[in-house]
Amino acid sequence: MKTKIIFGIIYLCLKVNVFSQDLDPRIEQKVDSVLSLMTMDEKIGQLNQLNGFWDATGPIPEEGQSLNKYNQLKAGLIGSMLNVKGVKEVRELQKIAVEQTRLGIPLIFGFDLIHGYKTITPIPLAEVSSWDMELIRKSAAMAAEEATAAGVNWAFGPMVDVSSDARWGRVMEGVGEDPYLASLVASARVIGYQGENLDRTNTLLACPKHYAGYGFAESGKDYNTVSIDDYTLHNFVMPPFKAAIDAGAMSIMTSFNVIQGVPATANNYLINEKLKKDWGFKGIVLSDWGSIAEMITHGFSPNPIHATRHAFLAGTDVDMEASFYANHLKDLNTQNIVSTAKIDESVKRVLRVKFQLGLFDDPYLYCDETREEQIILSKENRDLVLEVALNSIVLLKNDTNLLPLTGDKKIALIGPLAKDKNIPLGNWSLAADSDSAVSIYEGFKNLNINFEYAKGVNLVNKKVSFPFATHLNITNTEGIEEAVALAKKSDVVVLAVGEDAFQTGEGRSQSEIQLPGLQRALIEAVSAVNANIILVTQSGRPLDLSWENEHVKSIVHAWHLGTESGNAITKVLTGEFNPSGKLPMSFPRAVGQLPIYYNKYKTGRPSDPGNDIVFWSHFTDVEEGPLFPFGYGLNYSNIKIENVKLSKIKIKEGDSIKIEVTIKNHSKVQGSEVVQLYIQDLYSRYVRPIKELKDFEKVRKELSCYLLAFL
Ligand code: NOJ
Repeated sequence: MKTKIIFGIIYLCLKVNVFSQDLDPRIEQKVDSVLSLMTMDEKIGQLNQLNGFWDATGPIPEEGQSLNKYNQLKAGLIGSMLNVKGVKEVRELQKIAVEQTRLGIPLIFGFDLIHGYKTITPIPLAEVSSWDMELIRKSAAMAAEEATAAGVNWAFGPMVDVSSDARWGRVMEGVGEDPYLASLVASARVIGYQGENLDRTNTLLACPKHYAGYGFAESGKDYNTVSIDDYTLHNFVMPPFKAAIDAGAMSIMTSFNVIQGVPATANNYLINEKLKKDWGFKGIVLSDWGSIAEMITHGFSPNPIHATRHAFLAGTDVDMEASFYANHLKDLNTQNIVSTAKIDESVKRVLRVKFQLGLFDDPYLYCDETREEQIILSKENRDLVLEVALNSIVLLKNDTNLLPLTGDKKIALIGPLAKDKNIPLGNWSLAADSDSAVSIYEGFKNLNINFEYAKGVNLVNKKVSFPFATHLNITNTEGIEEAVALAKKSDVVVLAVGEDAFQTGEGRSQSEIQLPGLQRALIEAVSAVNANIILVTQSGRPLDLSWENEHVKSIVHAWHLGTESGNAITKVLTGEFNPSGKLPMSFPRAVGQLPIYYNKYKTGRPSDPGNDIVFWSHFTDVEEGPLFPFGYGLNYSNIKIENVKLSKIKIKEGDSIKIEVTIKNHSKVQGSEVVQLYIQDLYSRYVRPIKELKDFEKVRKELSCYLLAFL
């Protein structure tokens, strides 16, 4: 079979008419007329965002705690809320805003919609492994559909922080290590959330975050200082944000970190200069939770007034949870330090978005119990997350073709994650029901696989409360004996191991990224009696699997795959689905290699594995390069990229080049391949990375393809 595919750089003008930053004069007129009715207190109220009355996703700052939120709400002193979900709760608060305040301006309700609402999708990093932008867009659209049915109309996502440090717990929410891939994902997710029009009942406001540099936290420790130069800022950090804004994102969240000596939340260059002026951003700049107050802790602001002044004048429009704007902006205005015009500009941004969301026409647009009941966890949504999960799995190793599993083998299913129904939901599953994921055990049952099960060891010691490294406290080895006995009488062992969902996520950085607890001991014991081990790893970050790679024949990396996890894993293990995922982050050989990324610079003494002298850039105690690199992933076919043809071998600035390749499947097993195009600028005024991804195409089931790219 031969199929020709045109492979181009323009990708995501997709099927959806992209929302843009262009202003609608009709909305602007309405915004001005509402603004003209407002008192200064009411204006500042629109710039004040507070947590709801139920869940909190951060420490409650002192200034916020002392205030009575109901009274503030009634006085029109709150513009938006977060962590309020469910039609009943949203309606209750919206009713106060609309019926009891002087002007009746509706609230916006924000939520950390990171990987699905109740039907949980694979964690964002896993989805990036699919390299399938249309699927990623659909996944975000499904999440928006469910969240809006529950009253939410502002997603605090997508998280578009590029990062190459697996110690950082928030890589699970992110877009991996490559700025080009990250940019495509950023725009796919923004388009998925916002759709063609924000005022549809099933679309919501996107909020790319965390602007900027958060993914470069020193040593991967969350909230840590970021020390990057302009070159890294513009080449690695900014592109996905720019892509998200170009895709029409109407809000953005600043980051907690200091960048180039100034807190991002008060960074005039990043916000006023780049975002608002150069990129023409017309939406809301939202601080992160209490990040205006944290400017004091950073040692940047001596007091709340200073913090308020600098955050606001740098362009941060809305204060999440610090209550600094609510408490100090008016005084700064009275003292002529912050002009009324500047305050008006920020208020207009908020009102604009409220009009775009359709809230002035119908404040209860997103409050429909019937929709809430019908849409959430529907069969259609579950089918979609299954498809996304299947595409997110990465086959890392398959020596001796142990996979796919065949029906005639005696199968043992062993491991702490085999029967777990909660961990696969991942870290940001705030609205999901506990234990609502399909486990691997259930996935096996659903496909009528004959198998026997043993847990082996625990993953988490429930007696020790988080966040203290619970996995270090696991000492119970009793289950290993049973697991070994089962492995002995089996032909093949599927070993389900990994990390707890709360080993990654906000504030969950780690100094070690090997399999925690006694899992290695379990693998060691089982591998001593059975050589046919298929390791299924679940985690929110790249792991150090060097030891495991030496001891098992097959490794399937399944991340945290969400609601349909077990079904997806089973379909890949049995070959019902041929895996096609490719790594969005390098897997290191040792934690000491971090940060590790493919698009590195050469150095004056490049890492050439052929070198046998000491004086070159390398570690003396570990083999050079990652264990599994960015873009890597196997399948059950034998697909080769052949006949690479270039239309020219030299090009000048502004020239283009056509590249053709043939993709040939040398096996009978249908499969997909992600054809990846990398370039290297050999000599440049500013040195370039040794490899840069510039284009790719996921070729599905076709045996041959024609690739065309312009450089
Ligand atoms: C802090 C996190 O950094 C941010 O991503 C999140 O949206 C807010 N908390 C609200 O929960």
